[in-house]
Amino acid sequence: ANYEYIVTSRPEPNVLLIQLNRPKALNALCSPLFKELNQALRDADRDDSVGAMVLTGSEKAFAAGADIKEMKDKQFADVYKNRFLEDWADMTKISKPIIAAVSGYALGGGCELALMCDIILASPTAKFGQPEINLGVIPGGGGSQRLAQLVGKSRAMEMVLTGRMITAQEADKWGMISGIVGEGEGQVVKDAIAMAKVISEKSQIAVQAAKEVVNEGMLHDYLGRKDVGVKGYFIAYETTLTEGLKYERRIFHGLFATNDQKEGMSAFAEKRKANFTHS
Ligand code: HXC
Repeated sequence: ANYEYIVTSRPEPNVLLIQLNRPKALNALCSPLFKELNQALRDADRDDSVGAMVLTGSEKAFAAGADIKEMKDKQFADVYKNRFLEDWADMTKISKPIIAAVSGYALGGGCELALMCDIILASPTAKFGQPEINLGVIPGGGGSQRLAQLVGKSRAMEMVLTGRMITAQEADKWGMISGIVGEGEGQVVKDAIAMAKVISEKSQIAVQAAKEVVNEGMLHDYLGRKDVGVKGYFIAYETTLTEGLKYERRIFHGLFATNDQKEGMSAFAEKRKANFTHS
């Protein structure tokens, strides 16, 4: 298939490599890019010759987030009516494993994109962050939910409230990623491809079953608050990941009705500091 915002290739006969290809915008995730990404993933999921996939960006950026310039003028009515960015989650319905090979910035939606993959490998240069707060909004693609599940409340709060970027070393220590690869340009992609090759040589059915059961556990192990209910069924104390993600997205949508969202995103586009009025 011919894509504008991604490049696909087969570094191994049974491994699909998807490279985000909007280098000038640091792979900002505009809507057409995500459509192409979902298309490529769906096609690969149906293609028996693909056993595993690798998703990567450039040396400088895995992805610097959702496209702020595309979002900045949107109104609450637009984002609510069109369920803005809801299709991002389509990739979590893919049955085959997806390995994120992260170099450089993985910010906002870029960090969330990595967190929607099954395994994250990082280069020593990788930087993860949820800087939405600097734009007068919050994460909208799992940054407040999957992240908290992985790193715990205090660290997730720190990232989401301060917008600070963390290093690959911190991400590793915090349990966000599988590991940091050796130095060198392209090393993280090479290592991710090697891992994908190993997976692609297993039984595809067993691989998909393994992915399914790990994810099923994650859906219920929400913030670690689980209890054994009657007859030994696990019940979530508060809510499930699915409900948490929906809630996050709706609150994210709601912030498009504020002046601070307009100011925060316009300030980024105009390369100036935001002057929030708390309204
Ligand atoms: C649109 C972006 C962008 C983004 C970078 N660019 N990130 N455009 N959306 N998210 C553009 C810049 O405007 C600039 O365009 C070019 O890419 C290069 O970026 P610079 O800022 O000049 O590069 P640098 O000084 O090296 O700084 C890199 C950076 C910075 C620290 C990563 O670009 C940055 O802070 N980006 C925004 C990160 C962010 O806030 N992400 C969260 C987005 S909100 P020009 O035309 O000037 O060359 C989000 C919500 C998720 O993700 C919701 C999910 C459902």
